[in-house]
Amino acid sequence: MLASRLNLYRCLALAGVLAAGGCSAQAAGAPRHGMVATAQHEATRVGLAVLEAGGNAVDAAVAVGYALAVVDPCCGNVGGGGFMLVRFAGGKEAFVDFRERAPLLASPSIFLDASGRVRKDASTKSFLAVGVPGTVAGLEYARTHFGSMSRRRLMAPAIALAREGFVLDGGDAAELSAANEELSASPGARRIFTHDGTPRRAGERFVQPQLARTLDAIALSGPDAFYRGWIAREIVDASRGGGGLLSMRDFADYRVATAPPVHCRYRGYDITSAPPPSSGGTTLCEILNIASGFPIGRYGWNSAQTVHVLVEAERRAFADRNAYLADPAFVKNPVDRLLDSAYAAKLRAQIVANRATPSVDVRPGLGPPSEETQTTHYSIVDEYGNAVAVTYTINDSFGSDLVAGDTGFLLNDEMDDFTSKPGAPNMYGLVQGVRNEVEGGKRPLSSMTPTIVTRDGKLFMVTGSPGGPRIITTTLATIQNAIDFGMGAQAAVAAPRFHHQWLPDLVYVEPRAFTAATAQRLREMGYAIDDRFEEWGSAQTIVVDPRSGRLFGGSDPRSPAGAALGF
Ligand code: DON
Repeated sequence: MLASRLNLYRCLALAGVLAAGGCSAQAAGAPRHGMVATAQHEATRVGLAVLEAGGNAVDAAVAVGYALAVVDPCCGNVGGGGFMLVRFAGGKEAFVDFRERAPLLASPSIFLDASGRVRKDASTKSFLAVGVPGTVAGLEYARTHFGSMSRRRLMAPAIALAREGFVLDGGDAAELSAANEELSASPGARRIFTHDGTPRRAGERFVQPQLARTLDAIALSGPDAFYRGWIAREIVDASRGGGGLLSMRDFADYRVATAPPVHCRYRGYDITSAPPPSSGGTTLCEILNIASGFPIGRYGWNSAQTVHVLVEAERRAFADRNAYLADPAFVKNPVDRLLDSAYAAKLRAQIVANRATPSVDVRPGLGPPSEETQTTHYSIVDEYGNAVAVTYTINDSFGSDLVAGDTGFLLNDEMDDFTSKPGAPNMYGLVQGVRNEVEGGKRPLSSMTPTIVTRDGKLFMVTGSPGGPRIITTTLATIQNAIDFGMGAQAAVAAPRFHHQWLPDLVYVEPRAFTAATAQRLREMGYAIDDRFEEWGSAQTIVVDPRSGRLFGGSDPRSPAGAALGF
């Protein structure tokens, strides 16, 4: 067993060096037919097997979505929600919004105490933190509208992985171990994810019989099992017992939403990404629109000049994000105005050469609104020319740490993505406005940015990442690494990153992102650099070589359990 794990590591390392496909049976030459990139290699193999059996990218995405719920419990889920972006071979697109919704009984002040202060942990580690999960509805919507295989067929691998178990590798065990304290403090999670408080170890088989039973019920009866049957009942009972607001009506009322994706152009490439209730596509495009006026490629990768103009663009785009964007069912999002080229030119003109603009001097640029941390991403390309980008989440790593009754899965703490109180930072330090305040039935504003890039109508890149607000800048960096700096898929996801989100007014920097001279130069320009953080994100990317049509995968080395495999 140990030998095969070592082989796998060697194989994944090789995939990292060679950019893609090093572990597939057809390792000689890059794959041409299909590819799957996810943050967990068992899930990647599940998706690849669906593609090899003739399934399309949406079939594979459904199978991977359920598989990740088993093998990547920090992030993969049935207790959360997310977004699926599809580009069909003919160029048509679809965006499936299965974001969680606030319980109907929720209201703007649920996270405040009697004196109006934000109650610690209420939006992250209590049943009040839990939004109505959308994943089961979303995957079923995608399957019935765009897939070609039965639900039972697509869920069978996940059910087998839960029932028979899978062997935890070093990356899996590290993730569980990092969250051991929180998981151990929650009785339901402690029973499943720890040995009575001691972390599970690499090499052991992790079996999840309760989750197998839950998935089996969904495979048999579809979303009704989740939204109208015993699964909803167990969650509602646990929520009531734990001071939450969830009701059976919340579950019965849950609906998937669809919307046209957000578009922009960057140096001749067409970017398609997530619309509200994600801020991802809008903010990504606003930054790209500003950046397109600067010769970033000539400035050089992570040079002081590149970082300067991108941080200034990010600062302004995040100020707009936090003030204007929210659930389109509740507010009118000024996406067109934010993505107007004249607006980009106006913001570009505010950037002072060689000098940081303090965030206190940057206000949301459209004037007052005219009215009133865990996630995973995967990318799939199939042999028919379809592409799918999915980012879904339970928010924090292992979500709320809460497991209802015998359901066997973790519930999200997505309510923290709302504005608990205007001006008060959330778990990611985002300082958001009233438009994103809590309201019954509303979807919290997200940063998830599943993105597809084409050129002259041909698929070029499928990408996305976890990381809270850093999702946006991780996706930005991956795209710019490929377009401005000519990096291949693996280098584009591996390169160290930086991030700015308006407030706090800090440039967050991964280890080795800047040379000492660059950091020094940026400080002289007035930037405060925060390099105390470890690495972030787990970008999962597929790039199509425009000349040969061959597929190159990039599975972020920051998630060592991940893999990009093709055939
Ligand atoms: O939707 C969002 O923006 C957040 N709930 C995403 C959380 C996340 O990426 C945590 N992962 N590291």
